[in-house]
Amino acid sequence: MLEQLDALLVEALAAIEGTSDETALRDLEVRYLGKKGPLTELMKGMRDVPPADKPKVGARVNEVRTSVEQAIATRRDRLDSERIAKLCADPDFDASLPVSPLLAPKVGALHPLTRVTAHIEDVFRSMGFLLLDYPEVETEFHNFDALNIPATHPARDMQDTFWVDTPEGAPKMLLRTHTSTGQVRTMKTFKPPFRAIFPGRVFRYEEVDASHEHTFHQVEGLMVDRKVSVANLIYSMKTLLSEIFEREVTIRLRPGFFPFVEPGFELDIQCQVCGGKGCSVCKHSGWVELLPCGLVHPNVLRHGGLDPDEWQGWAFGLGLSRLVMMKYQIEDIRHLLGGDLRFIQQFRQG
Ligand code: FA5
Repeated sequence: MLEQLDALLVEALAAIEGTSDETALRDLEVRYLGKKGPLTELMKGMRDVPPADKPKVGARVNEVRTSVEQAIATRRDRLDSERIAKLCADPDFDASLPVSPLLAPKVGALHPLTRVTAHIEDVFRSMGFLLLDYPEVETEFHNFDALNIPATHPARDMQDTFWVDTPEGAPKMLLRTHTSTGQVRTMKTFKPPFRAIFPGRVFRYEEVDASHEHTFHQVEGLMVDRKVSVANLIYSMKTLLSEIFEREVTIRLRPGFFPFVEPGFELDIQCQVCGGKGCSVCKHSGWVELLPCGLVHPNVLRHGGLDPDEWQGWAFGLGLSRLVMMKYQIEDIRHLLGGDLRFIQQFRQG
């Protein structure tokens, strides 16, 4: 067997030295080192080697494999250098010309949603917030009842829902319509005081247009303490926006109605796609609804097992997809989850 190994090595080294292009070299790599190659075959013969010789033969197999691997790597380097030297010697070769897109290596890019989410997570983690994740398929309770939206409440119609088929008598399930589903879950899991964000995908059965998708992303923020203030809430949201945009953006705050907060606010951003002049993204109003928020309603605290006389909270529900549109001036929300690689390629980091 040792002779066979030596013969194989001599043959392989000669073949490698004799190759003049990368494809042939790759074929040799597969032929000698692949699963069906002679080395693997020889290894199968190990069971017939007398036990006393096994260590010696095993070591030699490894040596031969390493020598073949090294010879291939050296030959590959040499072929590469020769190829580059030949290119440089060509009087028509111009190293300053842009690379043809067909030859350029394919470089991936982080989706803008992924990139902005990571940035938001960094900002809030640096302020001591927990980062939490909750189910997309939810109970009716966490999506509605726990948030002070009983079955008869007209606010249920504000968010058209994809219901999930469930067996007779089982609790009703749905695709969460907002990340606020995590509010009561968080209160039941963590002992206050705490502060947390929970980013995620949400779903609504609604007409799609330049600024409305049926599937989009939100980031919920929740803080519970003995005393919280609207001032602190507004401060946190302003910090978030200045970190994300890295410049001043014009916002406006107005009263907003959500059954799970009291008082409630709507924070709008001046449309960054048209600069406030009016376009299809902002429905020609110059403003985009971005960051509704407010102080947690006492009934929600109660559902979370907290005494509203002892604990207070604030919450916000950031429209992440819209924030991404504003940051990168994307004129149609459907680009975000459209799956067109040309869209994502634009976000390659230089
Ligand atoms: C809510 O979803 C509340 N849960 C937000 C909240 C949380 C309020 C905590 C108070 C306290 P609303 O339905 O407005 O609210 O949605 C929040 C944000 O999501 C909107 O401001 C908007 O930026 C974004 N949004 C809403 N619908 C869509 C849609 N179809 N496509 C893309 N973004 C949307």
